[in-house]
Amino acid sequence: MPDDLAISPEVPAVVLQDVEVRLQGRVVLQDVNLRIEQGSFWALLGPNGAGKTTLLRVILGLVRPSRGTVRVFGRAPEALGPWRRAVGYVPQFHQVDLRFPVRVKDVVMMGRYGVLGLFRRPGPDDWRLVRQALERVGIAHLADRPLRSLSGGERQRVFLARALVTQPRLLLLDEPTAAVDVAASQSLYDLLRQLHRDGLTVVMVSHDVGVVAQFVDSVACLNRRLVAHGRPDVVLTGETLDAMYGCQAVFFHHMPGATPHLVVRPDEEEA
Ligand SMILES: Nc1ncnc2c1ncn2[C@@H]1O[C@H](COP(=O)(O)OP(=O)(O)OP(=O)(O)O)[C@@H](O)[C@H]1O
Ligand SMILES: [Mg+2]
Repeated sequence: MPDDLAISPEVPAVVLQDVEVRLQGRVVLQDVNLRIEQGSFWALLGPNGAGKTTLLRVILGLVRPSRGTVRVFGRAPEALGPWRRAVGYVPQFHQVDLRFPVRVKDVVMMGRYGVLGLFRRPGPDDWRLVRQALERVGIAHLADRPLRSLSGGERQRVFLARALVTQPRLLLLDEPTAAVDVAASQSLYDLLRQLHRDGLTVVMVSHDVGVVAQFVDSVACLNRRLVAHGRPDVVLTGETLDAMYGCQAVFFHHMPGATPHLVVRPDEEEA
């Protein structure tokens, strides 16, 4: 497919300025300023309820900030028009009813509905793009299988293919490894690194602080406010983790032969 989006490489993928979000009267995000350049790989970290999913939904134009401005490839997210397909999204929770024997390739085709519109049926070009997306995530051989017969790791690749089928420039992933084991997580991370090397801008919500810190180029630590952001080796200090998790957190840096990891423990009672 010809690249008709004509996005200048200089324009940032995302710019958030003074963003505040209120949901049902409660401030969920406050004073968020963040610039995500094209070609970068970000991890968005923070405890439960920190506003990570909400931040992705702001970028997608699904949540309107009560204050501040949002730009995605230089445009307001609710006015992206044809540029909407430049943003791929793998949500935290999937709304696919597994009681129905929906096939893998049909799930991936769902990603094209926004491009197809209401009345056009998928044509050979759409099916070719579905095939390509499945090949890109390494599961073309599963195309005709019912989704429900797949393992957790394989299913997550199906949802990744669904996000890639519009050939996005920016990929947003919300805890993509939450339901998969360590080996499947590792191979999913390897795949994301490959997609990033191929030129995709990636923003991934994760709780895997120590693991993702090894390969992303930037981290954003969120706890309603943006506690810190920047290079993981600079940002991930005990102080930042304290501010982010609101309790004593100890981060073990990478040591040869060991996986770095984060330990969060409740504040000790004062003697
Ligand atoms: N539609 C909504 N209406 C009201 N409050 C909401 C809504 N969606 C989210 N919230 C609240 O906003 C806060 C941030 O939620 P969000 O889902 O963004 O957090 P999160 O960082 O993604 O958490 P988790 O790690 O558990 O996924 C939470 O307190 C949540 O209860
Ligand atoms: Mg979330």
